[in-house]
Amino acid sequence: MAKIVFESVTKTFPGKQAKGRRAGAPGGGAFTALDGVDLEIRAGEFVVVVGPSGCGKSTLLDLLGGLARPTSGRILLDGEPVTGPGLDRGIVFQQYALLPWRTALGNIEFGLEATGVPRRERKERAREFLDLVGLAGFEDRHPHELSGGMRQRVAIARSLAYDPDVLLMDEPFAALDAQTRESLQDELRRIWQRTGKTVVFITHGIEEAVYLGQRVAVMTSRPGRIKETVPVSFGDRATGAGGEELRSSPEFARYRHEIWTLLHDEVARARQLEKEEATV
Ligand SMILES: Nc1ncnc2c1ncn2[C@@H]1O[C@H](COP(=O)(O)OP(=O)(O)OP(=O)(O)O)[C@@H](O)[C@H]1O
Ligand SMILES: [Mg+2]
Repeated sequence: MAKIVFESVTKTFPGKQAKGRRAGAPGGGAFTALDGVDLEIRAGEFVVVVGPSGCGKSTLLDLLGGLARPTSGRILLDGEPVTGPGLDRGIVFQQYALLPWRTALGNIEFGLEATGVPRRERKERAREFLDLVGLAGFEDRHPHELSGGMRQRVAIARSLAYDPDVLLMDEPFAALDAQTRESLQDELRRIWQRTGKTVVFITHGIEEAVYLGQRVAVMTSRPGRIKETVPVSFGDRATGAGGEELRSSPEFARYRHEIWTLLHDEVARARQLEKEEATV
């Protein structure tokens, strides 16, 4: 059985942006962000979602996180419809969503409070996860005393600490410099391999998608649907080979080009749409 199933998922927002003329835009001023998303994700799979800006990627993740409800269609998690947020799903947002008045350790403990882990154990477990993301020694720092990359590590540690089955990540590394991003990608891959979690990861970065994803789902321009999913497999990935070697391989370049082409067509379509709407 699939871990996660999107079944003809549609999301419309009541709004002023609809132009009526556009295919997929219903009348009455509603705005269609997602229109018929179908996607199945296996347990333990690492799926990356890419798509033009505004195509509904964050909306998709919000729905899976239970922060919003689909207008039609349904989302199943372990065969049950998602009806709200839950501790079985950890979310890492693009913006560092840390509590500024709590230390790094305190922020991770915060995630554990909701799960009823006893206080002593909370501290221990929080330390363990801070270690896991390479931040041993930074327990007592507050978010403003940490770099952007460190804050994002704390956010990742917080979502991992209460042991959700599913990790939802919305452009978690977008605001970081290239080097920090690459080292966090390696760390995330290592954590994923170690924990076997199901990961849904959104990004604008094609290289990031190819590097991290077992499968890359490319979305259409809005209203968003899944245009195509590209399975990514490298001969030597299972052995843990990574870093520069993988990124500079001909296979990597081939995948990058394939996804670039799929995405390029959609971005062009999105631009055209915007132009048409601007002249209405
Ligand atoms: N609460 C809302 N009310 C009205 N419209 C919304 C709402 N949330 C999102 N939208 C619209 O839905 C569309 C999809 O938004 P979403 O944030 O999911 O896009 P995205 O693919 O994540 O974009 P980006 O790559 O820029 O982050 C956008 O056009 C956006 O304006
Ligand atoms: Mg977004």
